[in-house]
Amino acid sequence: MRAATAGRAPEDAELVASVLEGLGTRPKRIASKWLYDAEGSQLFDRICELDAYYPTRTETGILEANAARLAAFVPERAALVELGSGSSAKTRILLDALDDLAVYVPVDISGEHLRHAAAGLAADYPRLPVWPAVGDFTAHLPLPGELRDTPKLLFFPGSTLGNLEPDDAVALLRRLRDVANVAGFVIGIDLEKDVARLRAAYDDPEGVTAAFNTNLLVRLNRELGAGFDASAFVHEARWNAERRRIEMHLVSRRAQVVRVAGRRFAFEEGESIHTENSHKYTLDGFADLAARGGWRSRECWVDDDRLFSVHLLVPAG
Ligand code: TRP
Repeated sequence: MRAATAGRAPEDAELVASVLEGLGTRPKRIASKWLYDAEGSQLFDRICELDAYYPTRTETGILEANAARLAAFVPERAALVELGSGSSAKTRILLDALDDLAVYVPVDISGEHLRHAAAGLAADYPRLPVWPAVGDFTAHLPLPGELRDTPKLLFFPGSTLGNLEPDDAVALLRRLRDVANVAGFVIGIDLEKDVARLRAAYDDPEGVTAAFNTNLLVRLNRELGAGFDASAFVHEARWNAERRRIEMHLVSRRAQVVRVAGRRFAFEEGESIHTENSHKYTLDGFADLAARGGWRSRECWVDDDRLFSVHLLVPAG
């Protein structure tokens, strides 16, 4: 074993394997879950506050307008399980509307961020048990066994499902449908719209999204001793019209060779590392996806400008 990786968190082995695999692929890619270290999670919170990034405030408005209707649907003493909870800002809207929840289970890949958010919620909702679970929910939902018989409301805001390839999204929807005693699933999905608006949301004038994307390279330098010159890469948000998605790339400004975990990766000028996809759906397109995943729509809410949608899904039987 290399000395540099000895004694680090077990996650490192997975990080190394994942990054080496992705950089060895053409086109080069790095899985987006690695964007969310503590620094990345903070930068992401700043993205959510940007004028250009319409999804957060639009989804928040939709949730506020419809929380009471949603509460009428939720069974008594249910568990609220949130996927990719981050700083749990939107959760508060649900917690305020659902007053007899048995427990709130936020699930996130960033342990530090999760614990911080959970502590803040516990202080503001002293009667609500909060059981944070660290994990990659796309691989496995780390739910405590004692919640097996508790009715569950799943909450997956932020259009994070759109970050998966459609087939992977369907596979995740199926697995979530099979969680024991799921009563319903509240999910936020970003909608197709004018491309200039989309691109601005993923390449904001303040450069926060660029910093978020580039932080991935800084993380790899720190955690894997990689040799990226972060200033030699530029953030780019591209609309892929065929696949209906915004793609995030880190584009090499020049020909260069970068060492990562003892291996050398050559970049041509203009060659990119593909770091994220954000698929956009029509309401019908998402209804089809949900149906393939074993869910049917019970309610669907949009804002007046039809920028974003929130769906209440139930298992299709
Ligand atoms: N779920 C968010 C989205 O697709 C994630 C996101 C927003 C993101 N901005 C980003 C991911 C920039 C990578 C880079 O809208």
